[in-house]
Amino acid sequence: MHWQIAFVTAVVLDTAFAWSPSNSYAPANVSCANDISLVREASGLSNNETEWLKKRDAYTKDALRSFLDRATQNFTNSSLVESLWNSDKVPKLGVGCSGGGYRAMLSGAGMLSAMDNRTVGANKHGLGGLLQSATYLAGLSGGNWLVGSLAWNNWTSVQDVIDSRGQSDELWDISNSILNPGGINILSSASQWDHISDAVEAKQDAGFNTSLTDVWGRALSYNFFPTLYRGGEAYTWSTLRDSDVFKNAEMPFPISVADGRYPGTEIVDLNSTLFEFNPFEMGSWDPSLNAFSDVMYLGTNVSNGTPVTQGKCVAGFDNAGFIMGTSSTLFNQFLLQLNTTSLSSFIKGIVGDFLKDLSGDYDDIAIYNPNPFKDIPYVASNYSQSIVESENLFLVDGGEDGENIPLVPMLQQDRDLDVIFALDNSADTNEYWPAGLSLISTYERQFGPQGRGLAFPYVPDFDTFVNSGLNSRPTFFGCDASNLTDLSHTPPLIVYMPNNRQSYNSNTSTFKMSYSSSQRMSMFQNGFEAVTRNNLTDDSGFAGCVACAIMRRKQESLNATLPQECTKCFQDYCWNGKLSNADSNVTSQGAYTGSISFQTDSATSAGSSSTSASSKKKNAAPSMAESYNSGWIIAFSTLLGTILGLL
Ligand SMILES: *[C@@H]1O[C@H](CO)[C@@H](O)[C@H](O)[C@H]1NC(C)=O
Ligand SMILES: *[C@@H]1O[C@H](CO)[C@@H](O)[C@H](O)[C@H]1NC(C)=O
Ligand SMILES: *[C@@H]1O[C@H](CO)[C@@H](O)[C@H](O)[C@H]1NC(C)=O
Ligand SMILES: *[C@@H]1O[C@H](CO)[C@@H](O)[C@H](O)[C@H]1NC(C)=O
Ligand SMILES: *[C@@H]1O[C@H](CO)[C@@H](O)[C@H](O)[C@H]1NC(C)=O
Ligand SMILES: *[C@@H]1O[C@H](CO)[C@@H](O)[C@H](O)[C@H]1NC(C)=O
Ligand SMILES: *[C@@H]1O[C@H](CO)[C@@H](O)[C@H](O)[C@H]1NC(C)=O
Ligand SMILES: *[C@@H]1O[C@H](CO)[C@@H](O)[C@H](O)[C@H]1NC(C)=O
Ligand SMILES: *[C@@H]1O[C@H](CO)[C@@H](O)[C@H](O)[C@H]1NC(C)=O
Ligand SMILES: *[C@@H]1O[C@H](CO)[C@@H](O)[C@H](O)[C@H]1NC(C)=O
Ligand SMILES: *[C@@H]1O[C@H](CO)[C@@H](O)[C@H](O)[C@H]1NC(C)=O
Ligand SMILES: *[C@@H]1O[C@H](CO)[C@@H](O)[C@H](O)[C@H]1NC(C)=O
Repeated sequence: MHWQIAFVTAVVLDTAFAWSPSNSYAPANVSCANDISLVREASGLSNNETEWLKKRDAYTKDALRSFLDRATQNFTNSSLVESLWNSDKVPKLGVGCSGGGYRAMLSGAGMLSAMDNRTVGANKHGLGGLLQSATYLAGLSGGNWLVGSLAWNNWTSVQDVIDSRGQSDELWDISNSILNPGGINILSSASQWDHISDAVEAKQDAGFNTSLTDVWGRALSYNFFPTLYRGGEAYTWSTLRDSDVFKNAEMPFPISVADGRYPGTEIVDLNSTLFEFNPFEMGSWDPSLNAFSDVMYLGTNVSNGTPVTQGKCVAGFDNAGFIMGTSSTLFNQFLLQLNTTSLSSFIKGIVGDFLKDLSGDYDDIAIYNPNPFKDIPYVASNYSQSIVESENLFLVDGGEDGENIPLVPMLQQDRDLDVIFALDNSADTNEYWPAGLSLISTYERQFGPQGRGLAFPYVPDFDTFVNSGLNSRPTFFGCDASNLTDLSHTPPLIVYMPNNRQSYNSNTSTFKMSYSSSQRMSMFQNGFEAVTRNNLTDDSGFAGCVACAIMRRKQESLNATLPQECTKCFQDYCWNGKLSNADSNVTSQGAYTGSISFQTDSATSAGSSSTSASSKKKNAAPSMAESYNSGWIIAFSTLLGTILGLL
């Protein structure tokens, strides 16, 4: 009997292959339909997303109703909620989690936990239920480590993480740096690196170009998929389609963002093609690509979406950790330190192998080879064809274009959102606090060559963010649709939720690569407090104000009466259009040039710095929110060297 079962399983795997068909990191050949087409024009949502949304809409309708009923319970007249539901104008929500390394992951986790009805206290003194009400949840770089690890661990919760503290398979146990995961146990570190090396070599041996991102993604995954064999080396992005919690739409639709880099250039800026990865597809809405490819069959050699060998596809390329690494390639640079530390020559050799053929300009790329968009005809005229002519697709950290919050996928008109919660854990100021630079970049993008179909509300300049304290508590942008008629269409209202100090100095360095258990708890707690006006103690009506922001667009379109409490909320939380800048010249930022500028400022003091946002802008492009910090590296290397030397 057993051989029969094994046989049946093998057949099922051949057609469904939820995990990598090789059962390892290496992609493998699989058969696929003779007439399969893996690419489509980006002319609207995919059928699969549309189908999925029907289920999600039914779920969010109930979840949002219970959030709004609770949040508006003190309103003198709550007929607005009733009238929205009667007219079936249920608002649609999205949440975006910014980049910023582990700071963004941990602080962002605290922020999400305040919106998650599974968190102790979130319904009583937080925004519990908002996450259940959200249709989309996008993450970028460190924010995608957060989104990816919650979503791809069966939609676990931050409360689960807190409750499983100290267990051997605790999620986000980053007490030790990725370079030295075993801590004082050097053998354990060496064996993990050995496995990483084997995995990436297996991919190379199967005929796929690899880059530092493969190493990086593999290394990260041990912290993100601690329950899976070797950090989920066979776990794929498309596996999510088979998970019950996703199939039943009991979780938001997760999206990861990366930027495209043209072959032969190192420039990434607002003109770059912005890619999204969702459980069904990867690709871009931008006119410079205008196409999506089935994420499950990445790695297939295609021409205009058709496999070059009929009926033969590749699967397993879309390793979950690899895609999470793709969104955060800026941190590849971190691995280069392996060569300068006193780690064993064995470990150094791994990095050396990967770098010998690459110039420094390629440290930060993820290679998608073969290019899934080869020869497609969908690029708008007047845009470069070089992406679709190239054998390789090069993707880099989603924050490199200056848009550190993954908003663009959620601004697509087809996704039809009413409100987006922009959780910003960027380091825009010298002291690693956010100050709206990402919003400014997204605002600007709509007027540039990639702005087709984009609309984003007016936002002020950096100085106004800082001087008016718009970065020290939640702020709403685009509150009045009637003031947005000059834009291509009415954009969603943006609820900006910046990292700000409540109970902890959460402005840690972007490149702080280890956090003790108590530091992680403090980051969670501060994040919770930062988006709830300190657990609603600074404003007991704040949850009601969030309700007003959610209902605003539908209320406007119905011409329904705005509750008086909302009028007050909008006075308190909407940006009033005033600038308060000493220097009105600070509005735009330079382009990211691909080379990381080494700063010598004192990153080592991060975490103990002062409580208010600095009024000094970082002297570099906004993507330098993630800039590399030599001071810290030297401190780190010295420390690591010392520790290893002592052993
Ligand atoms: C959270 O909200 C969902 C959706 O409304 C609901 O099904 C679930 O029971 C809630 N969970 C808790 C713990 O309140
Ligand atoms: C309703 O009012 C009470 C009393 O002021 C307050 O404690 C509670 O937080 C309010 N609830 C909401 C959702 O605003
Ligand atoms: C705010 O609420 C969170 C979650 O319930 C809790 O962990 C934290 O201690 C609270 N903060 C304060 C200042 O009470
Ligand atoms: C998700 O749940 C399924 C079924 O309980 C389990 O087999 C799988 O290992 C889980 N996945 C992860 C990443 O924990
Ligand atoms: C997959 O198929 C291609 C030809 O279609 C072949 O060159 C390659 O060796 C195969 N890879 C593996 C791992 O079998
Ligand atoms: C983007 O492209 C436009 C028009 O082609 C050009 O004017 C602008 O300088 C470019 N922006 C950047 C940051 O390169
Ligand atoms: C869409 O759904 C169909 C049916 O479940 C499936 O066969 C197909 O692979 C999916 N395509 C993508 C791109 O997810
Ligand atoms: C690492 O160090 C070795 C020996 O010092 C050198 O040959 C190699 O190029 C270095 N590799 C990198 C990636 O810097
Ligand atoms: C709302 O008012 C505007 C102008 O006053 C009008 O054009 C529009 O049709 C009204 N919408 C509804 C749903 O009544
Ligand atoms: C509540 O507001 C609606 C819409 O403005 C109005 O029709 C209704 O009479 C109000 N109810 C009360 C009790 O004031
Ligand atoms: C209203 O629109 C004008 C441009 O027409 C813009 O300058 C201003 O900032 C907007 N006000 C707000 C609050 O968004
Ligand atoms: C703003 O730019 C103008 C022209 O470049 C310059 O003259 C002025 O001094 C700048 N203002 C400040 C406050 O730097």
